[in-house]
Amino acid sequence: MSLLLIFSAAIFILPCLSEGLQFSYSSFDQNDRNLNFSANSNVDFQSLQITRNSGSADVSNTSGQITYTQPLQLWSGERNFSASFNTTFLMNTSPIMGGGTNATGGGMVFMLSSSPAVYTLPNSFGQWLGLFNGGTSQQDAQRVGIEFDTFKDSFDPDNNHVGIDVDGSVHSIATASLSPTVSLTTPDLSNAQGINTSVWIEYNGNLHILSVYLANQGSDILTRPSKPAITQNIDLRKYLPEVVYVGFSASLGTILEAHCIIRWIFNSTDPPSHGTSFTGLIVGLTVGGLAIAVLAATLVCIWIRTKNRKQGLLLGDLSDLQYGPRKFAYRDLKKATNGFADDCRLGQGGFGAVYKGELLSSNGIVTQVAVKCLSQKSKQGEREFKAEVMSMGRMKHRNLVQLLGWSYDGNRLMLVYQYMPNGSLDQWLKLGQEGVDVMGWERRYNVMKGVAAGLLYLHEEWEMVVIHRDLKPSNVMLDSEFNARIGDFGLARFIDIEEDVAQTATIAGTPGYIAPECIEQGMVSKETDIYSLGAIAVELATGRRISTSFLHSLSRLFEEGTIQSAADPRLPNFDAAQLEILLRLGLACCHPNPLERPTIRQVVHALSLAEEAPSPSPVFSMSYFSGSDKPSDICIIENSSSSILSIEMKDGR
Ligand SMILES: *[C@@H]1O[C@H](CO)[C@@H](O)[C@H](O)[C@H]1NC(C)=O
Ligand SMILES: *[C@@H]1O[C@H](CO)[C@@H](O)[C@H](O)[C@H]1NC(C)=O
Ligand SMILES: *[C@@H]1O[C@H](CO)[C@@H](O)[C@H](O)[C@H]1NC(C)=O
Ligand SMILES: *[C@@H]1O[C@H](CO)[C@@H](O)[C@H](O)[C@H]1NC(C)=O
Ligand SMILES: *[C@@H]1O[C@H](CO)[C@@H](O)[C@H](O)[C@H]1NC(C)=O
Ligand SMILES: *[C@@H]1O[C@H](CO)[C@@H](O)[C@H](O)[C@H]1NC(C)=O
Ligand SMILES: *[C@@H]1O[C@H](CO)[C@@H](O)[C@H](O)[C@H]1NC(C)=O
Ligand SMILES: [Mg+2]
Repeated sequence: MSLLLIFSAAIFILPCLSEGLQFSYSSFDQNDRNLNFSANSNVDFQSLQITRNSGSADVSNTSGQITYTQPLQLWSGERNFSASFNTTFLMNTSPIMGGGTNATGGGMVFMLSSSPAVYTLPNSFGQWLGLFNGGTSQQDAQRVGIEFDTFKDSFDPDNNHVGIDVDGSVHSIATASLSPTVSLTTPDLSNAQGINTSVWIEYNGNLHILSVYLANQGSDILTRPSKPAITQNIDLRKYLPEVVYVGFSASLGTILEAHCIIRWIFNSTDPPSHGTSFTGLIVGLTVGGLAIAVLAATLVCIWIRTKNRKQGLLLGDLSDLQYGPRKFAYRDLKKATNGFADDCRLGQGGFGAVYKGELLSSNGIVTQVAVKCLSQKSKQGEREFKAEVMSMGRMKHRNLVQLLGWSYDGNRLMLVYQYMPNGSLDQWLKLGQEGVDVMGWERRYNVMKGVAAGLLYLHEEWEMVVIHRDLKPSNVMLDSEFNARIGDFGLARFIDIEEDVAQTATIAGTPGYIAPECIEQGMVSKETDIYSLGAIAVELATGRRISTSFLHSLSRLFEEGTIQSAADPRLPNFDAAQLEILLRLGLACCHPNPLERPTIRQVVHALSLAEEAPSPSPVFSMSYFSGSDKPSDICIIENSSSSILSIEMKDGR
């Protein structure tokens, strides 16, 4: 009986793949059960090493393979389906000392194979790239390779080309030389770093077109060039079975070279879910066997689907996912946060509650995320929302909390962010509380620099001007190294702040961070963000909540030359020059006249100056606060104000 079950399961596994293959690796782990390594392959420096990169053994004339063991439904005759797929990877080929000569050697292949089994084919070294060995066995032939060849054999155009290999032959059916735009490697043995190459392979299963793009963009996969290095009409169904496995192979000849994959992303289209026509497959089974087979098939289908779904949840560290933020299903986020359980709740931000969630990646690694449930209605429909989220997802900076994904189901809007293990700045500043442990000076100054750098990116460095509108310590998140990362940026672009009464209360509850002109006239501009930044600077330096009268007394201390006395008394020590610069900046940024406030670039510059020059000269005018001007003119509304309700974007986008 159990034999029969296994038998029918084997029959039914193939037609049951009803979701595309998706995964994303930003680093690799040798124990990953989804990867199969050949004897000469391993993980080193968290990268796939397709051929051995170290050790004392002679590795000349060897080859290696690594496959991803989950299947890819490439096509289906029964279901009239031909998959499209995209894969992107960052590879590095470095010359290895000891190869002796100044020449490039070896080469690497992205392969589609009929089997997940890895084995180094005998004599598949050198020109064979680990892919074939000149034999004619059916299985060996059932591979297609996209080669990145760094050695010129007699049939090759040069030692720096891409090619498409089928039918057991490394005499590529199409090749393209990459010089001089892209270099796969360097002959310079002294360059042990090698060269990183980003590769994009796109296959359109409907049109049967394969395109490969390459770029040398340094340490990360950045933008795909618009022009492919090679485009080929090829119907993969002619060369490969319906279900295939993806992976890499590489080989060495007498010249040695490391072949590694640093990151790898794969995505394919979903096959249509199959109908009921299994007849072809189950002919020959007895009627009793048939019933059991159907039962078994159903179980296997369910098992595979659940498995795939789980796998599709979140793949690797999505901050590297060049396809942008992903869409999550509500139920997946619900599951990840234990049903939005109270003990997963991280807090209530300006725009809604935030929950900690755990998502399981394809390689079994748990990724921690923060899920923000927006309490407001979106101003737009799903399409526009998605467009905004996509553009926010493209904002990448080390001082911004990275947006990983989103979920939208008509009325529930959710955003999925990187999880920040050290919470938010307000939790460490504990404004106004005495006798508590607080963040030390060095970290505080570093936080200020981080916030300023993040704001510089939003205001000036990104492709559009982004006004934050709600910058305050509870929106300054801290990563594991206590670097500041601005959260909630860009949210105002699509959330209707006016809608929600609770939201109004939140803003009004922390009036200190809002520029006076914003409250009075409802104006939002870069300068209003600068005001908020000034408030953060003052609070970092003094540990006291900002208020107009406090700003006024600070400017008096400057006049009297006793500004050091304003330092947060809970600090065991601090850098006097840095304290002064923070307070000067704070006062300048909180200048009631928006036009007198420094730009973010000036702020960043001033912060770095303080490190070079121990005793900085005054940077900005703070004159408004001194003398007999009446700071009480600056109206900071202490309670809910209707003018907040009419905040409009000026031209901040
Ligand atoms: C590697 O193979 C080449 C060509 O087949 C041969 O000339 C060379 O001696 C081999 N080297 C080693 C170390 O086996
Ligand atoms: C299979 O799909 C292709 C394109 O998707 C279509 O042109 C063709 O008519 C389909 N064939 C059958 C038998 O449905
Ligand atoms: C990995 O490859 C070996 C052959 O080297 C094969 O026997 C094994 O089944 C493969 N593992 C998986 C999970 O496919
Ligand atoms: C190898 O290349 C390096 C860098 O181009 C050069 O300095 C060196 O002289 C070359 N060695 C030989 C043996 O050609
Ligand atoms: C290649 O990328 C890795 C990972 O991002 C990086 O550490 C390394 O410095 C890069 N190497 C070169 C030569 O750009
Ligand atoms: C692959 O990338 C192209 C171009 O970016 C896109 O149009 C296509 O939808 C992608 N296909 C898959 C399966 O992701
Ligand atoms: C994968 O491709 C499908 C179909 O083109 C697309 O809907 C999906 O968003 C893609 N996923 C990723 C992570 O790019
Ligand atoms: Mg070649």
